[in-house]
Amino acid sequence: MKALVITRFGGPEVLELQQVPDPHPGPEQTLVQVQAGGLNFADLLTARGGYPGTPKPPLVAGREFAGIEIASGRFFTAYFAHWKAGLIEKPAGTRVLIHAAAGGVGTAAVQIGKILGVETYGTSSSDEKLARVRELGLQHGINYKQKDYQDAIKELTNGEGVDAVFEMLGGEHVAKSVKCLRDFGRVIVYGAATGEPPVLDTRLLHARGTSVHGLWLSYLSHNRALMDLAWRQLSQWLNEGKLHPVIGKVFPLEEARAAYTLMQEGKNYGKIVLEIA
Ligand SMILES: NC(=O)c1ccc[n+]([C@@H]2O[C@H](COP(=O)([O-])OP(=O)(O)OC[C@H]3O[C@@H](n4cnc5c(N)ncnc54)[C@H](OP(=O)(O)O)[C@@H]3O)[C@@H](O)[C@H]2O)c1
Repeated sequence: MKALVITRFGGPEVLELQQVPDPHPGPEQTLVQVQAGGLNFADLLTARGGYPGTPKPPLVAGREFAGIEIASGRFFTAYFAHWKAGLIEKPAGTRVLIHAAAGGVGTAAVQIGKILGVETYGTSSSDEKLARVRELGLQHGINYKQKDYQDAIKELTNGEGVDAVFEMLGGEHVAKSVKCLRDFGRVIVYGAATGEPPVLDTRLLHARGTSVHGLWLSYLSHNRALMDLAWRQLSQWLNEGKLHPVIGKVFPLEEARAAYTLMQEGKNYGKIVLEIA
């Protein structure tokens, strides 16, 4: 079969389309004829060798896919972030700050927030991207290149803060995100796109009773009951036309390097799809 192979650790230049041996599914595994792949920021980190647990190259790239037997799970992370923040069962009027609101997870999180009646605040490096996310229902866009998001949240919420932050940047942003919370708020940590290890002095959590929660879909995906529950809810919203997959750009698999470069430069919007002929 044809596969996109990470030949050594590095940038998009290390990717090569190669012929590799056909896979043979083991017990409790299934074979899927993959028709399209979704590019996840974690794929970039994997190619660089910076994603935890990555085996030594050469290895096959990619983690999201849609094929004949199994549909893509592109919305799960956004759904579980709302779930982990306790926003699924909370009354309307709660507030969430979504970092990288114009991204793959971000655009799904904004739409789910709208369905739940959550007030959404989102960051991006670009006014143009924020304008597009507003069309999906984002209520407050913050261009962090022009304004510090912590200051913006303070101003937009009359100094109160938000109930939850979806945090995927790492480094100083975990502590900064905690500072955006109001009493008993939660930061849901699910990535470190800056490549910096998250920094947090947990004493910051004491006074306001705030908390930090982790989220990793690769692990949760083994929990069949939880996945079924999420899938039923997401399917219902999709069928009702409330939730729309946001595909920013489609590349043929042969142009995977260009797709990775677009994401590396932060110019992506929604989900980048790699189409397999
Ligand atoms: N834990 C899990 O289960 C799980 C599952 C899926 C994804 N993730 C994580 O969730 C995050 C989003 O993934 P995604 O695939 O949806 O990516 P994405 O949001 O579509 O792309 C990343 C976006 O992050 C923003 N960004 C801000 N600061 C950045 C920086 N220093 N370096 C790079 N990007 C920066 C950029 O948007 P702006 O320019 O608009 O700011 C960029 O477009 C990633 O950290 C990924 O690893 C985790």
